[in-house]
Amino acid sequence: MAPQYSFLLFTLLTTISLSFHGTSGVKYVVINEAPTHGGGIRFEKEIGGAAFTTKLMGQVNEFIWKLYKQNSPAERRAVDTVTVYIKDFDGGEAVTWGGDKINVSAIYLRDYKGPKDLKWEFTSLMHHEMTHVFQWTGEWTCPIPVVEGFADYTILRAHYYLETAAQPGQGDKWDQGYDFTARFLEYCDTLVPDFTTKFNNMMRKTYQVSYFQNLTGKPVEQLWKDYKAKYAGKKAVEG
Ligand SMILES: *[C@@H]1O[C@H](CO)[C@@H](O)[C@H](O)[C@H]1NC(C)=O
Ligand SMILES: *[C@@H]1O[C@H](CO)[C@@H](O)[C@H](O)[C@H]1NC(C)=O
Ligand SMILES: [Zn+2]
Repeated sequence: MAPQYSFLLFTLLTTISLSFHGTSGVKYVVINEAPTHGGGIRFEKEIGGAAFTTKLMGQVNEFIWKLYKQNSPAERRAVDTVTVYIKDFDGGEAVTWGGDKINVSAIYLRDYKGPKDLKWEFTSLMHHEMTHVFQWTGEWTCPIPVVEGFADYTILRAHYYLETAAQPGQGDKWDQGYDFTARFLEYCDTLVPDFTTKFNNMMRKTYQVSYFQNLTGKPVEQLWKDYKAKYAGKKAVEG
């Protein structure tokens, strides 16, 4: 009995996991591989651990399908299970890999300091990473910074966007990535309703930069010039 007991104890200390079947049919699994690490402890105490995260994943998943107007399974990426690992690794906040798995850095969770609380920050991060699971990338013909722009666009639309992130009109080029590209996509939405949603869904098989022209009638370079011009006056006032 003793060896069995210590094995159980060992298991409890090395991973804490939970799975949850959403109403969507997708299964959400959370594995905290670092429960004794400072980040793994904060994940349990401040974020709410696997119980909170599996529910959050379901909500974010529904939000993404709604935002990108993917109402039926035929319009969605076929995903059976999304797994989140809380893991002790150095190299950024999180990485989405294998199409349906997200590794969140325990170091990042441990060291995170404001301006929002950790639960807010984690919720924002999950909008970004879950977008990587469900977005179209033209089978990876879409440039990575643009892929990242779509992931940050989801954060923007979910209102989990930091005030310190890019504001409308900021950036040097449209495909700078992340928050800069997200703001540019948001601008394109003002020209063509659901521009970003349509663009995402056009990328199911291939990406073409000319999709900007398909949707708006203007090439992306012209759109970027128009975008910068629109906010140039406002910036001058601020400066
Ligand atoms: C993510 O974590 C899992 C579980 O520890 C590991 O097997 C995998 O190699 C990691 N992937 C990346 C890209 O770091
Ligand atoms: C975009 O427009 C071009 C030129 O009119 C057309 O050939 C192409 O099929 C369009 N692509 C999409 C995805 O609508
Ligand atoms: Zn990303």
